[in-house]
This record gives sequence, C-alpha cells and structure tokens, in this order.
Amino acid sequence: MKLTQTVAELKEILTPAYQSKSTIGFFPTMGALHEGHLNLVKRALFKSEVVVVSIFVNPTQFNDPKDLEAYPRTLESDLNNLRSLSDELIVFHPDVNALYTDQPQSRSFDFKGLDKVMEGAYRPGHFDGVATVVDLLFKAVRPTVAYFGEKDYQQTLIVKSLVKQERLQVRIEVCPTTRESNGLARSSRNERLSAQGRIKAAFIYQQLKWVKRRFSSVEFEVIREAVSMAFKDTEDWRLEYFEIAEVPSLELSVSRKKNKKYRAFIAARFEGVRLIDSIALNE
Ligand code: PAF
Repeated sequence: MKLTQTVAELKEILTPAYQSKSTIGFFPTMGALHEGHLNLVKRALFKSEVVVVSIFVNPTQFNDPKDLEAYPRTLESDLNNLRSLSDELIVFHPDVNALYTDQPQSRSFDFKGLDKVMEGAYRPGHFDGVATVVDLLFKAVRPTVAYFGEKDYQQTLIVKSLVKQERLQVRIEVCPTTRESNGLARSSRNERLSAQGRIKAAFIYQQLKWVKRRFSSVEFEVIREAVSMAFKDTEDWRLEYFEIAEVPSLELSVSRKKNKKYRAFIAARFEGVRLIDSIALNE
C-alpha cells in the first residue's frame, strides 16, 4: 500500500497510470472506515486498475465546530483495514494545508436548489464545503470513476452537479447503502451510539420501510403526520426532518404526480448522534 500526504507525490505515484491510460477508481472518505466503506473499496478494486482512497476530515463542510471536533479519527485502524484488502491501494491522507493551499474556505456554487432542502437547510454551507473539497480531490487524483455511497443521496446529486458545472472528466458511480443486520445504515457516526442505541437506531429504517409500503395507497400528508407522531412517541428521538422529494430534482412533494420518481428522507438525532437515511419509494 502506498501512503502519501502531498498532491505532488500523489501525482508522481499516479503518473504511470495516467501514461498507460489505466482506469483510476477513487473513493473519497473522511476516515473512520466501517464495513460499508470497505465493501465500496472492494468494488472499486474489482472494477478499476488503480484505486485511490482519500482520508481527509474536511473542515469546510462542518457548520458545527463541535461536530467537526467529535468526528471520529481512527487513522491507524483505517490503514490496517485498507492494507488487509490490497497492498496495491494508494491512500491519500493530506493535511489541511496540503489540500487547501490557503485558509480552508468554501467556494460558492449554484446547485439550482439541490442544496437548499434537507441536509442543505439544516447544515447551511455544508454542500459548498463538500463540493469545494471534492473538486480539490478530483483535481489532485484525476480519477476515471469516483465512488459515492447512496446513504448520502443528496450529496451524490451535488457531486453530479459539480462534475457538470466544472466539466470534470469523471464518472460518478453511486453504490447501495450497506446496512447492519437490523437495517441501520452503516455510518462512522454509529460508533458514537451505545450498544443498546445501535439496536434501537434501526427505528429510522423501519419508518422508511413503512413509508415505502404505504406510499401508493396513503396521502403524503397522512404519511408525514404518522412519521412525525412515531418519532414523538418513541423515547429519546429528535426528528429533524422527514421529507418526500421528487428525484432527481429534490423538489419537496406534497402529492404524487404521474411518471415521477420519489424518495423519502429522514434525519434524526438519537443519543445526541445525528443519523440520516433514505429510501427509493417507486423505482
Ligand atoms: O461523504 C463523505 O465522507 C464526505 O462528504 C466526502 C465526500 C469525503 C467529502 O469530504
């Protein structure tokens, strides 16, 4: 496994791949790697000749400094996990100054409203921060294909929009959410839940599956009220939002339109940990 912290060295390592036009698969992460991440790396290894994984906790996408501070940093075990998958992996672990040449600051983008709802509404500036760092990482790696998890569905749309706006030559592959055995979406944040909490947190996915079952027969407003009540009635939960949105526009929907695709989204706090998940309602 090759580990580098600088853009110049990364480019040097990748030069033979650029010259031979090998497919370069890239998976950007913030570390604290779990089985979901590792499955995605395996997929990248299977599909690309060269695979780069970045580990970088990006300050510009955190609107809450406490959240940034609490974000788990587990570099040693991340590197061991990656090493156990393949010794051909290239790991890019820059520090803030190596990636942001100046003060870490977000650029501002026009995402045509994609960034104004749900995660964008609850975490102002978050998607400008994500797009800024993904753009810097893409320019450093110059991947053929980049992998993103469907759990952060809104983020995948933001990244696709960034690629279009910046005319980047990279294909975005969205990979299915990996779940724990009880259905809880795998996330680095799950580590902050108690053992009991981790079992109870599957409640989010149970709600989403209930919504999917009722989607074609129950009015959106009734579904919305039922979900909101279910969270109120269940100890220790704080629902931030439940939305049904048209995809890929993410226009929030109050009723079903013919020939449109919809997805349900939830963000909620449990034991103080912010969890998100979503489900396709009519594939
Ligand atoms: O999904 C994440 O882990 C981050 O938002 C990303 C894409 C690595 C950018 O920092």
